[in-house]
Amino acid sequence: MKVLVVGNGGREHALAWKIKQSPLLTKLYVARGNAGIWQIAEKVDIAPTDVEKLIDFARKEKIDLTVVGPEQPLSEGIVDAFEKAGLKIFGHRKNAAILEASKVFAKNFMKKYGIPTAFYETFDNEKDAIDFIKKLGTPIVIKADGLAAGKGVVIANTEEEAVDTVKDMFGGRFGEASKRIVIEEFLEGEEASYIAMVDGEKLVPMATSQDHKRVFDGDRGPNTGGMGAYSPTPVITPEVEKQTLEKIMYPTLKGMKAEGREMRGFLYAGLMIGTKGINVLEFNVRMGDPETQPIMRRLESDLLQHMLDILDGKIESVQPVWSNKWSIGVVMASKGYPGKYEKGFEITGIEKAEEDPDIVVFHAGTDLKDGKLITAGGRVLTVTAIGDTLMEAKEKVYKAVEKIHFEGAHYRRDIGDKGIKRILKQDL
Ligand code: AMP
Ligand code: GLY
Repeated sequence: MKVLVVGNGGREHALAWKIKQSPLLTKLYVARGNAGIWQIAEKVDIAPTDVEKLIDFARKEKIDLTVVGPEQPLSEGIVDAFEKAGLKIFGHRKNAAILEASKVFAKNFMKKYGIPTAFYETFDNEKDAIDFIKKLGTPIVIKADGLAAGKGVVIANTEEEAVDTVKDMFGGRFGEASKRIVIEEFLEGEEASYIAMVDGEKLVPMATSQDHKRVFDGDRGPNTGGMGAYSPTPVITPEVEKQTLEKIMYPTLKGMKAEGREMRGFLYAGLMIGTKGINVLEFNVRMGDPETQPIMRRLESDLLQHMLDILDGKIESVQPVWSNKWSIGVVMASKGYPGKYEKGFEITGIEKAEEDPDIVVFHAGTDLKDGKLITAGGRVLTVTAIGDTLMEAKEKVYKAVEKIHFEGAHYRRDIGDKGIKRILKQDL
C-alpha cells in the first residue's frame, strides 16, 4: 500500500517512522517533509496546503492513503477535497477542524455543552476587552482567535501588559487570526495532553503525555509550539483519565456530532489539572508536536492498520499496544525561537547520538545544502529516548542531546522533571 504523509515537522517524521514499520506499506511519500523524513520517504515537492497539486499527485501515483499531520491543511479543507476526489485520507473535515482553528468557536462550544474550561469572554473591539481586563484582574490570558502556531496566547501578569497585548492583537499582530480574541481567567495547575483516535462518538485513547510549552526551564519565557514531552505522564492518573473521558472527550464528540460536525481523526485535549479540577485549555484536531515523538516510540502495534480500520468504520477493532517503557523527547531549537532566528547552520552528531539503540532523532526544521545537513526552522530536532524508568529515559536523552551540535542550539534541560517529582513523591 502506498502512503503519503503531509507535513514538515517532527510530528510528521515520527508518524512516517512508525508507518514505515508497517508490513502493509509498499511505498512511503512525504509532502514536503524535512531532511530526516527524506531518508525514509520519497520527497514530494508540494506544500502541505497546496491541495490541488496534492490531489493530482495522489491520483497519478495511486496513493492508497494520505495522512495529514498539521492543522493548517485540515482547517483549509484538505480532507473534504480528497474525499470529493474519491481519495482515502486520515484527518478531520473542515467543519470539524474549526474546533482548533477558532478559539472563539471552541470556547462557545465548550460553554454550550458544559465542557469544563476557563471562564472567558470573546471580543472584537479594544474598549470592551480592556473593560473586561479591569474587571477580571491579572494574571489573565489573552488568545488570538485563529491559528498562530502555538504563539497566539499571551499570559499577562500586569494590567499594562494585558492592555498592550489587546492593542497589539487588534492592531493586527496576527493578521486575520487576531481580529477576534478570547480573554480568559488564568488557571493554575499542571498541563497534560490527552489524545485519542476518534470516529463519530467513539474513541480509542493514545498514550498520555506532557508537553513543555514555555521556551525556558522552569516554565519561564514565552509560549512555543512545545519544547519537549514525555510519555506516559503520571499527572494523568486513572481517575483523571476517567474524568477526562466522561466530562471532556465523549461530550465533545457527541456535541460536535449534534452540531453536524462529526469528527474523524486525532482529537487532542490540552488539559490543565489543578485547583479548579480538570479544564480544557485548547482542543487540537491532530496529534501534538512534540508529543507524537515520544508517543510513537511507545506504540508497538501498527499505526497504519489502526488508521485504515478507523476509515473503514471498524474502530472497535483498534486496540493499540503500548510499551511499558517510558519515553522522552527533547526539542533542540534555533537560538531566538519562538522569536526571530537565523537558519542555515550545519548540524553534526546525530549519527553518534543514534549509536545508542534507545535513541531516535526526529527532524523538524532541517534541510540539505551541498550534501550537508543544515538548520531550516525554529524547532530543529526532537531527540527521543526510551528507558525502563522516566529517570533513565531522561539521562539517556540528555546524553544524546549533548552529542548533537549546531550554532546557537537551545534546549530545555528539565524535560520530564515534573513527572519525576511526582513519581518520587508517590514512591515515598
Ligand atoms: P492554548 O494554545 O490555548 O493551549 O494556550 C497555549 C498555552 O498557554 C497553554 O498550553 C498553557 O500553557 C497556557 N494557557 C492557555 N490558557 C491558559 C489559562 N487559562 N490558564 C493558564 N495557562 C493557560
Ligand atoms: N505541543 C502542542 C501542540 O502540538 O499543539
